[in-house]
Amino acid sequence: MVRDLHERLQRGERTLDVMPFISDYTLNTICETAMGGRLDSETDAAKYEYRKAISGLGMAIYRRLTRFWLFFDIMFYLSPTGRQFKKDLQQNCIFTNSVIEERRKKRNEIDCTGSGKRMALLDLLLDAESKGEIDMEGIRDEVNTFMFEGHDTTAMALTFGLMLLADHEDVQEKIYQECRSIIGDSTRTANTSDLAEMKYLDAVIKEVLRLYPSVPLIGREITEELVLDDLVIPQGSEVIIHIYELQRRGDLFPDPEVFRPERFLHEDKINFSYLPFSAGLRNCIGQRFAMQEMKCMFSEIIRHFKLSPIVKGYRPSIKSDLVLRPNESILVNFSAR
Ligand code: HEM
Repeated sequence: MVRDLHERLQRGERTLDVMPFISDYTLNTICETAMGGRLDSETDAAKYEYRKAISGLGMAIYRRLTRFWLFFDIMFYLSPTGRQFKKDLQQNCIFTNSVIEERRKKRNEIDCTGSGKRMALLDLLLDAESKGEIDMEGIRDEVNTFMFEGHDTTAMALTFGLMLLADHEDVQEKIYQECRSIIGDSTRTANTSDLAEMKYLDAVIKEVLRLYPSVPLIGREITEELVLDDLVIPQGSEVIIHIYELQRRGDLFPDPEVFRPERFLHEDKINFSYLPFSAGLRNCIGQRFAMQEMKCMFSEIIRHFKLSPIVKGYRPSIKSDLVLRPNESILVNFSAR
């Protein structure tokens, strides 16, 4: 990524449209780690179509949830939203099928088992398939969940994060000094123990996710009557927990609109007013992976580049399907350190 950014600078491309650039990297990362395979550069068009389909599917689900007449299958699939949903689903399946089949082919060429090396998630699934424990539909469901949850969420957090960092030179400087105190002048990439030492960067990412939680709301079914102060929520109700609103409440987070990573530096108790990865039994299982990936990318970028905004203090409007996104391009100026 750093080389890619340097090459852009050499070509005179100082301003970067952050979202598509970062999404490409996070999609590659999840494919290389969980799916066991690198995405070839000739699949750029396919990746673009996949990302477009994912965004379309999220939008269609959101529309359906907020328009009662679309609850009925017949109405939904006759509507323009439902017809687009079908097309996007097909596009999505084409991409995930190709990831699965490519890995299946490679596994026939190399022996992935018994080498003592950790197996990728997709290898475990293909092994389970050969033992008759899962079918192709099951594999596709798991691959879809991980590919979507594993790249779009981190991409949006990184995008909003780079926007906020560009606007806060002081925060960039603190991250830079922290990286230097851990890695020194070396140009090597940070390893796992370096990342664990980056406490300030950890607080920065938590603050980014407070202001811009990639999953802005989650739903739950109430399985037994719940009493909240003088409010009684009957059993069987469906409730929405609005993480975005919760994390911007002034009584819970003083000066809620202000980007201030320091508020997470001395946090030592679990507090359910902060929920970017949800909580409880169905919380995010990719939380540690996501934090590592984001620390890795932020630290690499800040060690090599200084960022500045196009317009100081400008905040784009946001939109939300299943994931929180900026409604317009986030443009950031880069210069080499
Ligand atoms: C900034 C990054 C991320 C954020 C903010 C995030 C947030 C969340 C949230 C809020 C949920 C819970 C939904 C609920 O309670 O209903 C969730 C679930 C999930 N996440 Fe993440 N996530 C992130 C990254 C990742 C990554 C990188 C992966 C995979 C490597 C991942 C895999 C999953 C999976 C599989 C679930 C479903 C768990 C279940 O239903 O039991 N997430 N995520």
